[in-house]
Amino acid sequence: MHCDVYMIPTEDQCRQLWEKYHLPEKKRRHVELVACVARFLSQQLTINNSQLTINHSLLVAGALLHDIDSKVPKLSGEKHPDAGVRVLKIEGLAKIAQLIKTHALHTILDRHSCPKTLEEKILFLADKMVKYDIITVDERFRLWGNESLSDAEQRVLRAAYPKVKALEKELLYLAGIGSPGQVAKLIMEEYTNKKKEGV
Ligand SMILES: [Fe+2]
Repeated sequence: MHCDVYMIPTEDQCRQLWEKYHLPEKKRRHVELVACVARFLSQQLTINNSQLTINHSLLVAGALLHDIDSKVPKLSGEKHPDAGVRVLKIEGLAKIAQLIKTHALHTILDRHSCPKTLEEKILFLADKMVKYDIITVDERFRLWGNESLSDAEQRVLRAAYPKVKALEKELLYLAGIGSPGQVAKLIMEEYTNKKKEGV
């Protein structure tokens, strides 16, 4: 598929890109769940703050495509999600490429590369609330902590944690959400029920 006439791909077009770039099944579940969290957060944010405008279709497409580089061979010097940004630009999806650029954990450590727009912040946070189920930021960091990470990766993890918690606090407060754990459970249940109903 080449969708340069579409600035924002539909969900079906995102799924065609999963095929084209061989996104693994587990990653498909991950990105679908990130899209569920992103949808939920953006709805709650706009319900609670009538002055906020969020580009909903951009956010959902970004969530569905944020890990598209999973099986894309990386060029020298590229790290996640650089190859994804590159292929999305080739697909004519510059707006999505721009959005996913700031979702990786390390971006939050640098004031130039960190998520700044509301859509970027929501995608970043939603990604940190999902592994292969919807969980909390704390649980996600705990799982990372159990992985065998290099010293450099562990340093990123430690430095990023307070910044991710601050972003979680900022967005959940604005969205009127008191308990991250309850919200994670609620969105996960909604997703599971929809899957059972075949929606
Ligand atoms: Fe992700």
